[in-house]
Amino acid sequence: MAASVLNRWWVKAAAQGLLAAAPGATALDDRIRRRLRPPHLTSDYVLSKWHHVESHLVAVGGGTGAALAAGTRVLELGTGWFPIVPLGLALHGATVITVDRTGHLDPARVRLAMQLLSDLEAAGRVRTAAPERLARLRDLLTDPAPRGTEELLEPLGVTALLADATDLSGLPQTHGSDLLVSNNTLEHIPADVLAGIFTEFRRVGGPSARMSHYIDLADHYAGFDPRINEFHFLTLPAARWRLANNRLGYQNRLQLSDYHRVLHDTGWQVTTEQLTSRNRRQLEGLALVAPYDAMPREDLLVVKAHVVADRSA
Ligand SMILES: C[S@@+](CC[C@H](N)C(=O)[O-])C[C@H]1O[C@@H](n2cnc3c(N)ncnc32)[C@H](O)[C@@H]1O
Repeated sequence: MAASVLNRWWVKAAAQGLLAAAPGATALDDRIRRRLRPPHLTSDYVLSKWHHVESHLVAVGGGTGAALAAGTRVLELGTGWFPIVPLGLALHGATVITVDRTGHLDPARVRLAMQLLSDLEAAGRVRTAAPERLARLRDLLTDPAPRGTEELLEPLGVTALLADATDLSGLPQTHGSDLLVSNNTLEHIPADVLAGIFTEFRRVGGPSARMSHYIDLADHYAGFDPRINEFHFLTLPAARWRLANNRLGYQNRLQLSDYHRVLHDTGWQVTTEQLTSRNRRQLEGLALVAPYDAMPREDLLVVKAHVVADRSA
């Protein structure tokens, strides 16, 4: 009965907020999620991440199934639980370093990502361009010897490092990167931290460094509660949103123009972008709060963005 009068999104926010307040919340959250969600991946999920691989390849003038220029070095921000995008870029010849301030990877999840990529390639549903790496990936999968995360990823050209991307000074291997990417990550980072990361990426990126970011701008709570839509969080006043927003599931509520501003301020210039926008009707009837009530509707309606940026002159 109580559950039927409570909004599902609010229950999720409250539970996560309580956990976020506990000492060692990030490690605790990681342990709980590991326990509750055994390694599981679907082909559809992997293909949705493969779409990001394709977008990053296009960002550097290539495409799926075409090898990247020899020696291409990629830096990914926000590894997450399954290294699908790093493996996808490595299977196009890149040397990939992926950084995350939390270590979510484990051998079972890495193997699962490798297995699904191998199966999808065999079924002709994804194309790769580094045959020797693909062969090595399949050898690793069939070899019964137990291997750690590093032993699985390093032979394929992927290095996963624990690091906060605002300071890469201790990681010289990230310096000189040609392509700096993120996937479903920027929206979870506060604007001032984002500015620090973009500044650091400008510092460590090679002379012709390019950034390629896939951003999900929609209210992530809409995925848990069919009664709210992707713009619901723009109706919550700052004080209420502070209660709903917590560091474990943090959402910055930045709009596309905000990302443009942070990029501009940190020395990056947007060169291309692909946007997914909803119909204006989706905003009808919503009591938007400041500053969203004064922002152009076209800005607010963007729910997904793939943004490519080069160093400003
Ligand atoms: C939502 S996950 C996205 C994971 C993955 N890219 C994907 O597509 O599934 C965002 C990740 O970014 C990491 N992250 C957030 N801020 C970071 C920072 N300043 N430096 C490094 N990693 C960060 C988080 O720990 C989290 O694992």
